[in-house]
Amino acid sequence: MAKKVALVTGGMGGLGTAICKALANDGWTVVANCLPAFPPAAEWLAKTKADGFEFHIGEADVTDYEQCGAMVKKIEAELGPIDCIVNNAGITRDGMFRKMEKGQWDAVLATNLDSVFNVTHHILPGMAERGFGRVINISSVNGVKGQFGQANYSAAKAGILGLTKALAQEVAKKGVTVNAIAPGYIGTDMVMAIKEEVREQIVAQVPAGRLGKPEEIGDLCAYLASDKAGYITGATININGGLHMC
Ligand code: CAA
Ligand code: NAP
Repeated sequence: MAKKVALVTGGMGGLGTAICKALANDGWTVVANCLPAFPPAAEWLAKTKADGFEFHIGEADVTDYEQCGAMVKKIEAELGPIDCIVNNAGITRDGMFRKMEKGQWDAVLATNLDSVFNVTHHILPGMAERGFGRVINISSVNGVKGQFGQANYSAAKAGILGLTKALAQEVAKKGVTVNAIAPGYIGTDMVMAIKEEVREQIVAQVPAGRLGKPEEIGDLCAYLASDKAGYITGATININGGLHMC
């Protein structure tokens, strides 16, 4: 039987790479999405190949609905139906609300929230028709609790939680689960871009006393994608070293 196909948006980033690897280790055929004509894609493919992985690439700007449709069509024609989508692509444009420019707001909402619609909308009908699907949306602890300096990001990531719960109800009887993962601070470029003294203050507030590892998010993702997780839907799974308990 052909292996099932999973698509990971922003698949070449810090969390994306770990998610791709965890899904591949569970037997999924994995497509890593990246922006069109993304120069480091070839290098990423070569590096992951050296680690023993054979990934595919799906090019699209996730803020562009039409590009996402074309990407999904191409993947499904070449590899077969997509049974798992991990909506992981995201950006930050931090700043205090009163200093925040409209462009910072728009970019973060488009990349972190609109993208979930743009990609999933092309995939979900097929999942429902086939009676199986996994939709995994990467939110954030800062979407759950709100974060000083991140009105845009907190709004987008909280929006993902609402979308997850609504959509989960619509497709639960169709064998499709829809869940959100809300990571705390994980040691990727996104977090390393925070000023060092601010980052140190954040880590000091984490009961576990450290940043999370990308692999810890990858493993949770692989579990949610597995048959074992068929009764988990509409959930927000917090994975934050105790930073926010709810
Ligand atoms: N709570 C309360 N007050 C705070 C605060 C906080 N968390 N952070 C800063 N302040 C206060 C400062 O003490 C300062 O007060 P005074 O004016 O009285 O001195 C004031 O706010 C301005 O602070 P800054 O000088 O730092 O202002 P800035 O404009 O240079 O930077 C900022 C503001 C961009 C928000 C910066 O503080 C920052 O980068 N904070 C971190 C935001 C953050 O956590 N981002 C997460 C990125 S990673 C990610 O998002 C992944 C994920 O999902 C977890
Ligand atoms: P990252 O390394 O910066 O990865 C983000 C990925 O998204 C990059 O590959 C990036 O590509 C891609 N991307 C950005 N805009 C895109 C677009 N328009 N179209 C297609 N791809 C796009 O960050 P990360 O830490 O792995 O974050 C992954 C996800 O986890 C994000 O949604 C983030 O908000 C969330 N998250 C992260 C943390 C954390 O602590 N790291 C915590 C909670 C939630 P480029 O490199 O080309 O820009």
